[in-house]
Amino acid sequence: MQTKTKALILGVIVSAWLLSGAMAQQAQESQPHISIVQKWLSSGHADSSSSSFTHWDGEEEIPGSCATCHSGEGFRDFWGFDDSAAGTVDHPVVPGGVVDCDTCHADGAGDIEAVIFPSGMRVSKPGSTATCLTCHQGRQSGSALPVATADGGDDSVNPELRFINPHYAVAGAMLQGSLVGGGYQYPGRSYMGRFTHVPPFSTCTDCHDPHALEVEVASCGRCHGTNDPRAIRTSAGDYDGDGDRETGIQAEIDKLSATLLEAIEVYSAEVTQTTIAYSTNYPYFMIAEGQENAGRPYASWTPRLLRAAYNYKFVISDAGAYAHNPHYAIQLLHDSITDLSTVTGARYQIGERPN
Ligand code: HEC
Ligand code: HEC
Ligand code: HEC
Ligand code: HEC
Ligand code: HEC
Repeated sequence: MQTKTKALILGVIVSAWLLSGAMAQQAQESQPHISIVQKWLSSGHADSSSSSFTHWDGEEEIPGSCATCHSGEGFRDFWGFDDSAAGTVDHPVVPGGVVDCDTCHADGAGDIEAVIFPSGMRVSKPGSTATCLTCHQGRQSGSALPVATADGGDDSVNPELRFINPHYAVAGAMLQGSLVGGGYQYPGRSYMGRFTHVPPFSTCTDCHDPHALEVEVASCGRCHGTNDPRAIRTSAGDYDGDGDRETGIQAEIDKLSATLLEAIEVYSAEVTQTTIAYSTNYPYFMIAEGQENAGRPYASWTPRLLRAAYNYKFVISDAGAYAHNPHYAIQLLHDSITDLSTVTGARYQIGERPN
């Protein structure tokens, strides 16, 4: 059934593509197109069995607030490429679509002036990354986090608070750093803006094949001496305090993430009296084992705890944070750990903070 669906999609795509005037010239050399289609079919964008696309199975339509990123049709509607108003999904979008060819190749996709992030901040002249930034921006920003509740301080449990999930694959927000404010940025601290890396490997599609989505690792070794992205290291600092400045920057982010989770647990036990536990499944933060209501969604949030938990999830939601904006990720982790330990007095091994 799935193979059939794919074959059908493939047929429609290929014929639509071949008919498209702009590409008629290239269509004559059909071989490259077949390989592009194959690459795309191998990618997550075409994986119609993924929960990113099956989540609405059995429902009549994908809600407008989800359709922009979860189907090509919703994406075209959002940007007004279907002649509807731009900035909203105003037609019902039937479940079953994927990130199809015409998502990125729709007329107008190359002329998007600016992409607006959940913080309200915008990236102007995004060029060929406009499509990627639209969908890989997350659904929340640091500004959604409570600063302090009106009637309590940062450390009072507020039963009204719920976990705020940044959403998934937030690469675009990570890469732009403080320019779009995807993480919760503590007052009085400075944060890395966009990670520009080096000019030939600066945008999404410089590093990722736009169809297979894989990182073009063969080109990394030229400068980094290794083609394993996780082993790449240029930063001089010891950010996790283990004295090792040779391991890939990815390892420092991993270690700091684990330390932050520990700090979150310790704070919850000491300040809220209900210990929190992270779970890889929705709703992510639960009441820890051995307590009343264990396994139920965590509901004893203080503003301080919520901000730290948000930053933890924001960083781990981007499997490529270490390549998208390593210093922004490290700053968020450092500041969250430090903020929690000012209250608990617990001391954690962290190293220097990148400036
Ligand atoms: C219409 C929304 C949309 C657009 C546009 C989009 N993506 Fe995605 N992307 C997704 C979704 C949804 C997934 C998850 C797919 C899944 O779960 O199978 C995803 C997955 C990925 C992955 C994970 C790899 C994989 O195979 O699962 C990478 C890398 C990626 N996208 C990069 C990009 C890049 C680079 C661009 C721009 C050239 C881009 N995306 C444009 C929605 C989008
Ligand atoms: C700004 C774009 C965007 C919007 C809006 C959006 N999503 Fe997503 N969502 C994504 C991307 C990108 C992924 C892919 C994550 C990955 O690579 O697995 C994703 C993944 C998911 C997943 C799969 C999670 C998993 O664990 O694999 C679900 C379910 C989901 N979204 C539900 C929703 C719902 C429900 C809405 C509307 C209320 C929504 N999304 C709105 C971008 C978006
Ligand atoms: C996530 C966005 C995205 C999707 C989905 C996508 N493309 Fe592309 N495609 C691009 C980008 C970006 C480029 C430009 C690459 C460059 O300039 O190096 C491109 C380039 C091309 C080219 C020009 C040849 C080349 O290799 O540069 C063709 C032809 C093409 N795509 C066909 C397709 C077909 C057919 C599909 C569906 C099977 C598809 N694309 C799906 C983003 C996408
Ligand atoms: C400097 C190169 C580079 C740039 C630029 C870059 N990426 Fe990545 N990306 C990576 C690496 C490396 C990984 C991690 C791969 C791994 O560890 O498996 C990654 C991972 C990802 C993932 C997670 C894939 C997964 O398997 O879950 C997504 C989604 C993604 N990138 C999207 C983007 C988007 C969107 C952009 C532009 C905003 C972008 N990337 C820019 C190198 C880059
Ligand atoms: C032309 C040389 C060059 C190429 C090619 C290159 N890089 Fe880099 N990379 C650099 C430089 C220079 C830095 C330091 C940038 C900075 O800190 O602002 C860097 C930094 C990094 C970092 C952060 C390391 C740290 O310790 O902070 C990662 C991760 C990375 N590159 C990944 C990649 C990946 C993945 C590729 C291949 C897709 C790649 N690079 C290709 C030159 C290159």
